[in-house]
Amino acid sequence: MTDTTTGTTPSTTTFKAFQLGSFSLSDIKAAEKPKLKPHGTQVLMRLKAVSLNFRDIMVAKGIYSKAVPLPLVPLSDGAGEVVEIGGSVTRVKLGDRVSPNFMTGWHSGAVDNDIAKTALGGFIDGVLQEFVMVDQNALVKIPEHLSFEEAATLPCAAVTAWHGLVVNGQVKPGDTVLVMGTGGVSIFALQLAHMAGATVIATSSSDAKLARLKEMGAAHTINYKTDENWDEQVLAYTGGKGVDHIIEVGGAGTLDRSLKSIRMGGHIALIGVLASGQVNPIPILMKSVNVHGVFVGSRAMFEDMNKAIGVSGLKPVIDKVFKADQIVEALAYMESGKHFGKIVLTL
Ligand SMILES: NC(=O)c1ccc[n+]([C@@H]2O[C@H](COP(=O)([O-])OP(=O)(O)OC[C@H]3O[C@@H](n4cnc5c(N)ncnc54)[C@H](OP(=O)(O)O)[C@@H]3O)[C@@H](O)[C@H]2O)c1
Repeated sequence: MTDTTTGTTPSTTTFKAFQLGSFSLSDIKAAEKPKLKPHGTQVLMRLKAVSLNFRDIMVAKGIYSKAVPLPLVPLSDGAGEVVEIGGSVTRVKLGDRVSPNFMTGWHSGAVDNDIAKTALGGFIDGVLQEFVMVDQNALVKIPEHLSFEEAATLPCAAVTAWHGLVVNGQVKPGDTVLVMGTGGVSIFALQLAHMAGATVIATSSSDAKLARLKEMGAAHTINYKTDENWDEQVLAYTGGKGVDHIIEVGGAGTLDRSLKSIRMGGHIALIGVLASGQVNPIPILMKSVNVHGVFVGSRAMFEDMNKAIGVSGLKPVIDKVFKADQIVEALAYMESGKHFGKIVLTL
């Protein structure tokens, strides 16, 4: 019998899912969910790999929003295969290697309140499960040269960096880009900046990580812990002018120094909330800074990015791969900040 609210037909088989039971980083447990049959434009996808984002820590701790429904299947980013399709599906076929967009309802154009509620692993169940049912319009094909593990890193961190730097920032060869720290968004921003022919200045709290950033082609590196006045270094590296773009993942705690580091008329992609503090907004107007808030991106942006990744051969940087059962351990590892790039789990 078909469920009239979801348009899906339950079957007697079940599959493994992980659920956040309460707002605690350690309360994520395995559960069984009924396997549904897709109808109309629905697609049943078998997940092979998923990846973590800082947001997943915020969701689990209840910092993201207390309106998050519990129990919740966490995580937004995954890659896998199409295993069953509804009768009206035309965009994908059985066996296609796909990822759902972070917001399943954001296909193109501008985001709105209703679309924001379709963010996986936030207000609707996410991808830490063996199967997920999505509408065909939520899916993008993954770049051919990437494994499922590599492709699973793209939906949130890479699309956010692409949206900030390429879509809004219109980065071009010869520009200078400041990336902050060595998390998922920042490492993708470094790679995309290089793809565009830009020069990268990169920061980290760790000298060992700074050495890795140099190996990845960063022109200049700064330790933001030992060199608290890192904005002065940025100005020195740009002949006193300031950088053209900043991928701002620190937020209120770093924005004052970012505003000192940006050139007149430069562009700041406001993305993260890693550091708390207070901001003086006056330099935004005095320097005519283009500060642009970014909330991940649309399916169209994801598809454009994947085209560029396919042509350039970009490979995501994976720090560590865990098994799905190790989700609590993996989140604790992310919270420790030891990682460089992305953390992946296999299903
Ligand atoms: N707006 C959006 O759509 C969107 C999308 C994705 C992410 N985000 C946000 O962007 C931020 C980064 O996310 P992520 O998933 O890439 O995180 P992540 O992988 O956990 O990265 C964390 C890294 O950021 C660096 N960091 C921490 N505090 C810093 C500071 N004060 N200054 C400079 N770097 C600092 C550290 O790098 P080192 O160890 O090298 O010091 C740390 O390892 C988070 O706030 C997240 O919520 C927003």
